[in-house]
Amino acid sequence: MSIPCCCNCVNLCRFLNKGLSDFNLDLDLGSLTKAWKYTFFKPKFIFHATYLSEKIGYWRYITIYRHLKANPGFEVFPIFKYIENWCQDENRHGGFFSALLKAQPQFLSDGKAKLWSRFFCLSVYVTIYLNDCQRTAFFEGIGLNTKEFDIHVIIETNRTTARIFPAVLGVENPEFKRKLDRMVEINQKLIAIGESGSSSGEELEENTC
Ligand SMILES: [Fe+2]
Repeated sequence: MSIPCCCNCVNLCRFLNKGLSDFNLDLDLGSLTKAWKYTFFKPKFIFHATYLSEKIGYWRYITIYRHLKANPGFEVFPIFKYIENWCQDENRHGGFFSALLKAQPQFLSDGKAKLWSRFFCLSVYVTIYLNDCQRTAFFEGIGLNTKEFDIHVIIETNRTTARIFPAVLGVENPEFKRKLDRMVEINQKLIAIGESGSSSGEELEENTC
């Protein structure tokens, strides 16, 4: 499952277009929309997933912003000085999707909604944890511990999400982090097997039983 990141892309495109216009250059964004392969999702799935994407985006960016403000020695590029409004944009986009969900109470009120809510939380939290643990150089490079950063972001996002979703996950239980770390280990083995060209899966089986 991919996490929608439409606002991040739109913000980045705006930033690039603005920067390039200083050099009398521009991006042909129209060709991107024509070449992109689109997948249709029912709106009820987009509401939950996009709400979470916006809120977790906010917590990720604002945590980095606050960390760099407190530790300016790690500020590797001046853009970090100016991202607070961008962070708040993400927060407001999340607020918009919160309003959409509240206006459609059928997406929040029954047992099915509880299951979907927990499913989306789990998908998003596991995805960011596994992805970030594969690219720790960025986080370590700005003085953050990747796993501590992600757990902080997941806990804050989950607390925010609990205000609107009918059910969330027990992410503050140490068992949740232990299981995430176990998934990171298994994922690393899967990646190593993929890179080695082995197709038997025996190496993974030996280490995970
Ligand atoms: Fe956004």
